[in-house]
Amino acid sequence: MFTKPLREAASIADLRNIAARKLPRMVFDYIDGASGAEATAQRNRDGFDRFLLQPEILVDVSKVELKTRLFGSEIAMPFIIGPTGLNGAYWPHGDLCLARAAKAENIPFVMSTAATEKLEDVRDAAGNLRWFQLYLFKDRSLVRRLLDSVRAAGFTVLQVTVDTPIAGRRARDIRNGFSLPFRWTLKNFIDTAMHPAWACRMLRTGAPTLRLFADFVGNVARGATIAEVMQQQISMSVSWDDVAWLRSEWQGPLVLKGVSSVQHMRRAHACGVDGVVVSNHGGRQLDGSHSTIEVLPRLVDAIPGKPLTMLIDSGFRHGADAAKALALGADAVQLGRPTLYGLAAGGEKGARHALRILAEDLSRAMALTGSPTVGQLAGKAWDDHNLHNDVYRSAAVPERQMSAA
Ligand SMILES: Cc1cc2nc3c(=O)[nH]c(=O)nc-3n(C[C@H](O)[C@H](O)[C@H](O)COP(=O)(O)O)c2cc1C
Repeated sequence: MFTKPLREAASIADLRNIAARKLPRMVFDYIDGASGAEATAQRNRDGFDRFLLQPEILVDVSKVELKTRLFGSEIAMPFIIGPTGLNGAYWPHGDLCLARAAKAENIPFVMSTAATEKLEDVRDAAGNLRWFQLYLFKDRSLVRRLLDSVRAAGFTVLQVTVDTPIAGRRARDIRNGFSLPFRWTLKNFIDTAMHPAWACRMLRTGAPTLRLFADFVGNVARGATIAEVMQQQISMSVSWDDVAWLRSEWQGPLVLKGVSSVQHMRRAHACGVDGVVVSNHGGRQLDGSHSTIEVLPRLVDAIPGKPLTMLIDSGFRHGADAAKALALGADAVQLGRPTLYGLAAGGEKGARHALRILAEDLSRAMALTGSPTVGQLAGKAWDDHNLHNDVYRSAAVPERQMSAA
């Protein structure tokens, strides 16, 4: 089947289309799918429409700088390649491809606990901006052992994912019988046979496994869906006490991933974490919840002085989406599917292509909002549902515009 060449992909949607053609349906659906009715995944997109960017004119934007700082390090643009599991199923050595893409673009890469590569191999592929994502296992001595290895491999920032006490019910995976190891049903066999290029690539490198999991937890149960595999090892009893415990175990920056309320922000701060990822796991966990961009303004204002680094993910597909989040107070945007669509479309090159699309798009949004630097985006988006709310109007719309109105 004819597939558009990578270089012609002008948007993340184009990369998604290429990924859909190149991957067997069951693999594409694992990336693309979400939980329940997929309402939150849809809302993650729709939520952006509620916020409007303020165009600005007659500002010198001959030089637009995307660089910013996170946890003491300069990064080339306010994007992070977020943690995703099973990356080796989308492209051979997918974790290494993503780590290299992040290194080339000088942004952080977050290795997932559900990685398909060894820690040391990711360490060697990634640049200095290597972060690690932790799922808290039932067995705390395993967590300690894993953290020792993570520390020894020079990962500097730890993100602990806390929105997965139980996996979301993802109907597409159940329908497709997408499991570990791959279950060879007739349907899956035909699906794979129709994607010979993917099948050959997988044959060359071998079927991906949850490598890190296997190294630390032992072999995973056969025939379980990916969500079930994670479920078997992740503790359902994780509480705020565990976050406090983790704080005492990890000396570097600690980030809580899966924060979505003011209360979460306050408790996270009280536990001594350094940052949060405002996230609903890309709509893969609790279906029927709000989008992350909708809750962001309240979370930014949750604690006076904004002491925590605010990262955000879920649904970001355009530079303007990122511009809105940065304008509303986020420090950077973490990417899940955008770089995965790129990875599936063309390995490291495809992931870099996704990053380039987003960077160029963001740079234009910055120019058109009169923001030569990321910091100057502050306040340049407002909530359209609150147009008559003075708090939003006066806080968000630049003074010049207000007086001209
Ligand atoms: C295929 C896939 C696998 C994921 N695996 C993980 C994971 O191992 N750990 C984790 O914290 N989040 C995981 N996530 C969630 C992402 O880190 C992120 O929160 C989400 O994808 C953001 O939404 P977006 O895909 O719309 O950008 C995964 C997401 C996808 C799409």
